[in-house]
Amino acid sequence: MLNPPHHTRIRQSVGNIFPPDSLAGGKGSIERTAGRLLDHLEEELAYGPADFCALVSDQLPVITIGEWLRLPPADYSLLRSLTHDQVFTQELFPAPSQLALSDEATRELRQYFTALVQERRRNPGDDPVSSWLSIWDAHEPDRESADQAVFHLTLFMVLAALETTAHVLAGMVRLLLEHSRQLDWLRTRPEHIPGAIDEVLRYDAPIHMISRVAPKDTELAGVTVRRNEMVQLMVGAAHHDPRQYIDPEAFDIRRRGPHLSFGGGIHFCLGKALARLEAECLLTALLKRLPGLRLSGAPVWASRVAFRRLITLPVARA
Ligand code: HEM
Repeated sequence: MLNPPHHTRIRQSVGNIFPPDSLAGGKGSIERTAGRLLDHLEEELAYGPADFCALVSDQLPVITIGEWLRLPPADYSLLRSLTHDQVFTQELFPAPSQLALSDEATRELRQYFTALVQERRRNPGDDPVSSWLSIWDAHEPDRESADQAVFHLTLFMVLAALETTAHVLAGMVRLLLEHSRQLDWLRTRPEHIPGAIDEVLRYDAPIHMISRVAPKDTELAGVTVRRNEMVQLMVGAAHHDPRQYIDPEAFDIRRRGPHLSFGGGIHFCLGKALARLEAECLLTALLKRLPGLRLSGAPVWASRVAFRRLITLPVARA
């Protein structure tokens, strides 16, 4: 929601949060978490169908971000449910009841992350929140403003990271199970996993719309946009534009080419490398294990447009 120079200042304070060396260090931990979650899924599948979302795809992002920010594991499920409710505020036409849920979640998240920042003030450690505090202290003489900036940053990271990554993890499993020949092809060619993830991101972008406010009267694709008007950029539709993609409705993991799932320009996603790593670790493990996995029922989506969300993905073993 920010523009330069305010946005530039905040973005610079964060820097490159996931440089390749830190991600290489975190990879082992993500692999272990993915392995543990798949162990649990396998145990459940021994008794019959299980929900991939509840057991795996909703879990991996919150555990990954929770460990990175050093949040207590006991809080993970609360954070997941608050972020589910909070993002309604970014919907195109939110219902009053959805806005009420979002307001309540925002209030609780505000309390949670305000307390977290205060706690890291008292007990700084080797974690991103403590390091953002020391960066802001060096540039912001007023401590309260520094705390406020770090609060927003931490809250925003969690909101940006959970629903989006969960959707790509669930979406990739759904799409590959629905296209079993491509899944079999990928199983013997794991070097194509990154390309397959890009096709999942194109075919069903976790964020379908990006909002912008026009800074001045302008013309966009033949449409006049007045200063201060909001424009919704329909990423999901752009990804199915036949002028950009050959046969766009076909899911094809061998397709190559750019997509807009991580945005573009000055707001380009800061967590892209982490999200991709989670998807790669999970898909690599899944291809080696659970060869007989299949869909056992219809997936259920939340009725939202902006932030896509698969609520349940029933799977079973053949
Ligand atoms: C598949 C997963 C993800 C998707 C699809 C995604 C998508 C996006 C998109 C489309 C934007 C641009 C929004 C805009 O232009 O208004 C964005 C920005 C951002 N993302 Fe992600 N994201 C993902 C995961 C993550 C993760 C894991 C993190 C952090 C750990 C993260 C942190 C951010 C931040 C901080 C921004 C704001 C950057 C700015 O405004 O300068 N994202 N993301």
